[in-house]
Amino acid sequence: MINLFVNTSYLLANTLMILSIKLLSSPKTARIGNLFGICGMFWAIIAALISLELISHIIPILVILSGALAGICIAYKVKITSLPQMIAAFNGMGGLAAACISLSEISSGSEEWLNNTLSLVIGSITFCGSIVAFAKLNWSRLSAPLHFYAQYIVNSLLFLLGLAFGLCFMIHGNISSFYALGATAGVLGFMLVLPIGGADIPIAISVLNAMSGWACVFVGLSLQSPVLIIIGTIVGTGGTFLARVMTKAVNRSLFNILTGSFALAGHGSETEKTAQQGSPQDAAFLMENAANIIIVPGYGLASAHAQYALKNMADILRQTYHVNVKFAIHPVAGRMPGHMNVLLAEADVDYADVYELGDINHEFAAADVAYVIGANDITNPKAKTDASSPIYGMPILEVAKAKTIFFVKRSLASGYSGIDNPLFYQPNTYMLYGDAKAVTEEIIKALEA
Ligand code: TAP
Repeated sequence: MINLFVNTSYLLANTLMILSIKLLSSPKTARIGNLFGICGMFWAIIAALISLELISHIIPILVILSGALAGICIAYKVKITSLPQMIAAFNGMGGLAAACISLSEISSGSEEWLNNTLSLVIGSITFCGSIVAFAKLNWSRLSAPLHFYAQYIVNSLLFLLGLAFGLCFMIHGNISSFYALGATAGVLGFMLVLPIGGADIPIAISVLNAMSGWACVFVGLSLQSPVLIIIGTIVGTGGTFLARVMTKAVNRSLFNILTGSFALAGHGSETEKTAQQGSPQDAAFLMENAANIIIVPGYGLASAHAQYALKNMADILRQTYHVNVKFAIHPVAGRMPGHMNVLLAEADVDYADVYELGDINHEFAAADVAYVIGANDITNPKAKTDASSPIYGMPILEVAKAKTIFFVKRSLASGYSGIDNPLFYQPNTYMLYGDAKAVTEEIIKALEA
C-alpha cells in the first residue's frame, strides 16, 4: 500500500514538473506553471520522506522546514534585479547537495563508483563555479574577466590531477583519492569561471544550471531514484537549451564565452563628442504627433521600476492620440533571460504588443519615434561595425533607422559591456537625461496637459 502511494506520488511529481516546464514557456501560463512546479516538488519531498521512512523523524522534517523557510525569506527579500545572483546561488546549492550525497554514499560503502564519481565532480565544479558567478554578478568591481599567466596550463594540470585521483579511486577504491578528486574539481570550478566577463556570466549560469541537473541525474542513478533522474534530466536539458538560445542571441560560441575571449572594455564615454539633449515636453510633442512608436526597454527600466509609468504612457498615446505603440524586446535586454518580458507582464502590458527582435527589427524604418528607455548595449551599432568590441556579432535592435530616437538615461555612461554608443551622437537622437521613471512621468504630464 505504501509502495503504491510512493510510486503514484513520484509519478504525479514527475508529471507536474514536466507540465510546469511546458507552462513556463509562455508568459500567459507562467504563473500556473510555477504553481505546478511547487506542487511537484512538494509531492516529491513527501514521497521521499515516506519511502525512506523518515516521516516520523523530527530532524529531517526540521531540516526541510528550515530550508523551505530560508527559501521563502530569500524569495521575498530578493530584488528582481538580483534574481540572476539568486539563481547562481541556488545552482551552487544543487551542486553542493549532489557532491555531499556522493561523499556520504561512498563513505558508507556504496559500490556505485562511477555514478558517484561523476556526481561528485560535476557537483563540485558547479558549487565552486557558482560562487564565482554569484560574486561577479553581485559586486560589479569583480565582474571583469580574470586572466593570468599560464591559466590554461594550470587548468590542464588540475584536470590531469583530477583524472589521476579519479583513476586511483576507481582502480584501488582509495577513499582519500575520492575526497581529493572532489577538492580538485572544486578548484577547477573556481578557475573555469574566473576568466568569464560579467556580461557573459548569465550564460555561464545557464551552463552551471545544466550541470547541477546532470549531477542530480547521476545521484539519482546511484540512489536508483526515478524522480531525481527525471527532474535532473529536465533541469539538465533546460539549462543546456537556455545556454544554446543565449549564445545564439549574442552570436557567440560557448567556447568563446567560457574561455573569456572577449574582455570588457573600460567604462567611459566619448566626452569629446556632444549629444543633443531633449526635454520630456519635446518628446511628448513628437510622440503625440507620431503614427508609429517603438519602445525599447533595457536594464534601466528595471533599475528605475519604470514599467508601470511606461505602460501608462503607452496607454495614453494609444487611447488619446491613436498612436500605434509596440514594445521591442532584445533577448539579452536587462540582466536575465526574459527580464523585460517579466517587467512588462507585471505592468499588464498586452502580450500582443510585445515583439521579439526578429519580429520587429524591420519595423524601425517605418517608426516615427524609437523610445529607448534604460537600454544601451542592445542598440549599439558597434556590435555590427567594431570587431574589437565585446559585443561584436550580437544582433541589435535597429533603432538607428527610426526617424527620431529618444534615449532615456541619466548620463552618457556606457552600459554593461563598458563601451560607448555612437547612436547618442546621431543627428536624429535626443538624450532625455534622468531616471527612467521620472522622465516617463514628466512625459505623461505633458501628454495630459
Ligand atoms: P545596458 O547596456 O547595461 O544599459 C543600461 C543603461 O541603463 C545604462 O547605460 C544606464 O545608463 C541606464 N540606466 C541605469 N539605471 C537607470 C535609471 N534608473 N534610469 C535610467 N537609465 C538607467 O542594458 P541593456 O541595453 O538592457 O543591455 C543588456 C546588457 O547586459 C548586455 O550587454 C547584455 O549582454 C548584458 N547582460 C544581459 C543579461 C541577460 S541574460 N539579459 C545578463 C547579464 C548581462 P546611465 O547610467 O547613464 O543611466
